[in-house]
Amino acid sequence: MNAVVEITDLHKSFGPREVLRGVDLTVAPGEVVCVIGPSGSGKSTLLRCVNQLEHATAGSVRVLGTEINDPDVDIDAVRQHVGMVFQSFNLFTHQTVLENCTVAQRKVLRRSKAEAEKVALENLARVGLADRAGATPSQLSGGQQQRVAIARALSMDPALMLFDEPTSALDPELVGEVLAVMRELAEGGMTMIVVTHEMAFARDVADRVVFMDGGTILEEGPADQVIGTPREPRTREFLDRVLDPTHR
Ligand SMILES: Nc1ncnc2c1ncn2[C@@H]1O[C@H](COP(=O)(O)OP(=O)(O)OP(=O)(O)O)[C@@H](O)[C@H]1O
Ligand SMILES: [Mg+2]
Repeated sequence: MNAVVEITDLHKSFGPREVLRGVDLTVAPGEVVCVIGPSGSGKSTLLRCVNQLEHATAGSVRVLGTEINDPDVDIDAVRQHVGMVFQSFNLFTHQTVLENCTVAQRKVLRRSKAEAEKVALENLARVGLADRAGATPSQLSGGQQQRVAIARALSMDPALMLFDEPTSALDPELVGEVLAVMRELAEGGMTMIVVTHEMAFARDVADRVVFMDGGTILEEGPADQVIGTPREPRTREFLDRVLDPTHR
């Protein structure tokens, strides 16, 4: 089957600074890839290159068969199929949960109000928030707001979901409910790239774990192998620090 994402020799510089230095990554349909690695290693930049929030400096990024670094690409047509969930939820604060989940459906997919609301309510039910459709984001907890952000993304019927540390802004007791929603998505067959520091989640849910360091993929493999018995000393050091923050 064709890859959902196929990245070849991706380079990205900000001015003189090269932050991605030749990344190769292929994600198959239904695959869940977790990206781990130290701060500044280029994880967010990599995700942002997958939906053209950043322009690659060199290399190829194919998403659903389309080369998105092609200057003539219709990037909106590609982005339509790619859901993105960030650390900050970016909900419209003056709109209800339901409105947040219908705006893009109506504008981009040109769905009718009734159709968009039906789809939104289905997805709000999926994340356990159908009963909060009329609330505004400020009336919700951080975990609930992030679940709305996921429902909003799902309402666009994405073929690929990108998550950039979706739980790292949450109070610890709210992390689990968001991870549970993501796990269910993964089990339902969604293709996902997840940047996360939640190692237990990565180990359980990821088909593959990618360890980034200094703008390259230093190690990748089955979750159990990379997290359980990493090959590279740098991976081991990183995991020691993340799994035991008092470790030096
Ligand atoms: N818009 C930008 N302009 C200049 N430098 C940038 C820009 N975005 C990112 N960088 C730099 O690129 C490097 C990689 O950043 P990136 O955000 O991808 O790292 P990360 O692995 O996601 O880190 P973190 O775990 O802290 O989120 C960092 O050194 C960062 O300062
Ligand atoms: Mg980041």
